Amino acid sequence: MDALFDRVGGEPFFIQLVEHFYLGVSGDPLLRPLYPDDLSESAHHLALFFMQYWGGPATYNELRGHPRLRMRHMPFVIGPAERDAWVRHIEEAVAHMATTTDLTEADAEELRAYFAMAAASLVNAP
Ligand code: HEM
Repeated sequence: MDALFDRVGGEPFFIQLVEHFYLGVSGDPLLRPLYPDDLSESAHHLALFFMQYWGGPATYNELRGHPRLRMRHMPFVIGPAERDAWVRHIEEAVAHMATTTDLTEADAEELRAYFAMAAASLVNAP
């Protein structure tokens, strides 16, 4: 069976998912201050990471090296509130993609389950 990357239509899906996610982050008083002023590099890296994770090209690793996500997030204080806000924005982005593409409910659920698990693993503060 095809990778999720292929099932959802490849790169454009992830570009749009991340674009919508950062739209949410940019208006979030808790999360916005953690990110740089210009969100375009952050968005680029996140989209590349998701593409690679879901079975697309390994461009993220070529550009950024091994993801080491927990280590890369150590400079930021991530407690339950930050985790919940991050998950809320990515779930809104998934919901947006479900209405604008033919994302199946099974794939939407797979995305949500992974994001919830990954976000929980990055909590580094009470
Ligand atoms: C739990 C709440 C989270 C917070 C508050 C958070 C916050 C951040 C911040 C502030 C950056 C730096 C942005 C930049 O330097 O441009 C970042 C980078 C990144 N985050 Fe998160 N993040 C969270 C969860 C996640 C999750 C769940 C994933 C993956 C499933 C993820 C993947 C990434 C990636 C791939 C990068 C770019 C790393 C690089 O520099 O190559 N983050 N995150």
